[in-house]
Amino acid sequence: MIYIGSDHAGFQMKEKLKNYLTKNSYCFEDVGTHSIERCDYPIIAKSLCEKITNDDIGILICGTGIGMSIAANRFKHIRAGLCTTKKQAEMTRRHNNANVLVLQGRDMCYLKNISILKTFLLTSFEGARHEKRVNMLSEI
Ligand code: RB5
Repeated sequence: MIYIGSDHAGFQMKEKLKNYLTKNSYCFEDVGTHSIERCDYPIIAKSLCEKITNDDIGILICGTGIGMSIAANRFKHIRAGLCTTKKQAEMTRRHNNANVLVLQGRDMCYLKNISILKTFLLTSFEGARHEKRVNMLSEI
């Protein structure tokens, strides 16, 4: 399952990304927010992260993407990568086995975020030497 969430600053971007997911037959659940009314990103990040198990993927969006990544990475089972390029999306899946993609809602064009999202969803974890390092993250 894919879970998607944003604060008010990421709301419009979230709606556009949801259209992309729907058009491409991805199953997803929107954890909010549901309007442009101001809200607090840590609450949305918490709601989303608490839903993530096993092979689930999360997508979080706030203005800069920074607040959402700080919040999401407080959860031991979450490996959230803030991505502003396709290359970062590819590498955070291949090397970090990221299970949450964080995107910028402001100052980022929708088409670029779509290409980042597409790359994230289609790239797999490489395992091998990266497995040990990813496991070490849970020990911190
Ligand atoms: C909201 O104004 C903004 O602070 C938030 O979306 C995010 O960028 C925080 O990191």
